Amino acid sequence: MATAAREHWNSRFGFVAAAVGSAVGLGNMWRFSYLTAEKGGAAFVGLYLLFTAAVGLPVMLAELTIGRGSGKSPILALAHYGGARWKALGGLFVATGFLILSYYSVIAGWTLRYAGEALIIGLPADPGAHFGEISQGFGAFLFHLAFMGLTMGIVAGGVTKGIERVSVVAMPLLFVLVCGIALYAATLDGAGAGYAYYLNADLDNAFSMDVLVAAAGQAFFSLSLGMGAMLTFASYLQRDSNLPNESLIIASADFGVAFLAGLMVFPIIFALGLSADISGSTLGALFVALPKAFINMGGIGRLIGLLFFLALVVGALTSAISLLEVVVSAAVDGLEWTREKAVIVMGLMISMLGAASAWSLNILDVMDQIANNIFLLGGGLALSIFVGWVMDDPLAEVAEGASGVRWFFAWRQLLRWVVPAVLVFVLYHSVPTTVANIGMLWRGE
Ligand code: TRP
Repeated sequence: MATAAREHWNSRFGFVAAAVGSAVGLGNMWRFSYLTAEKGGAAFVGLYLLFTAAVGLPVMLAELTIGRGSGKSPILALAHYGGARWKALGGLFVATGFLILSYYSVIAGWTLRYAGEALIIGLPADPGAHFGEISQGFGAFLFHLAFMGLTMGIVAGGVTKGIERVSVVAMPLLFVLVCGIALYAATLDGAGAGYAYYLNADLDNAFSMDVLVAAAGQAFFSLSLGMGAMLTFASYLQRDSNLPNESLIIASADFGVAFLAGLMVFPIIFALGLSADISGSTLGALFVALPKAFINMGGIGRLIGLLFFLALVVGALTSAISLLEVVVSAAVDGLEWTREKAVIVMGLMISMLGAASAWSLNILDVMDQIANNIFLLGGGLALSIFVGWVMDDPLAEVAEGASGVRWFFAWRQLLRWVVPAVLVFVLYHSVPTTVANIGMLWRGE
């Protein structure tokens, strides 16, 4: 096979920006906030932090190790270390990327529309009714297509000239926006009630299986784990990169932005007396409550609203490119397609599948639950078993570029015992819960 030499990131910061860009997205801002509201505040946040550190971090390092070590996209990378029978797992990863991007882009389309409206015509007078109109149907589909177009344009540019170039600008911008809005929120009268809601643990809730499963699923989704996205990005790394270090940076930045997102969302909502709008929150609550809050702020609200939705668009875009890159790199390496062909064919297929989520919020919700609570957790379980038990000497691979780092010697033991045990336990509960939830959504309850 006469392939050109594999592309490499131009700089270490380029890789970190792209990987943090993948991790930080709608998951940190929209999904984290609505789940925190739905699952009762700080107890959920604490569990999510625990899963990020104890389960997410080892699996992150596992993905980076397979990716850099093989220098291949997921299907071939798994075959490289595990033989042909592990190709099926890589195939599952690619399918999961396909599925997630199809609905992720619909939500991103809402944010694109809100940002555009805040800029050009102002925020909607009646956010509840507005959200009902724009979240489903043909309009939702059009904005989904627009967002897919942006994503495809960047991925078509390639790893350094597309993904890296966008990420090194987008990530600092996102960070400044989120910090700025959180600081502004702190100046609002009545912000304290929001902090109290966000940061006080409701311990009765903490030990319900439902909260536990949601926290685990959220940790995987937010870190972009369980479907080979980090693996794919790591396959473009130079051999001297320090994998334990990079894992730690990516996971900290990801949790940091989620935490900051809570510090912007909850004070704003509580200061403007809208707490009832998010209690027992659902998928769409933030898209209704926040615009209401921005309107109630008066003149400055339009600016804050614009910046907020801009941050969401930027975060969503750098995440979406990583999802598409998984699918595209698999087609380029496995089918020997050109990058352009892979972007167009796969991008269009994903766009079409997105029509289902644009048509119905319930379908979107069903896809999100299947992807997170089953595929990503299952993928993470398989990955930890793979690196813990199947792969030959992963420690030697990690040690390259990271000699002198000691903590990762515990890492393989974590992957062998702790991570699979936790994930089996979580899956044992998440599969029936998810199936029951899907049944409910399906029947329209
Ligand atoms: N992590 C992103 C977010 O929080 C979403 C995402 C991007 C993702 N790539 C992924 C989720 C791969 C799972 C797997 O918004």
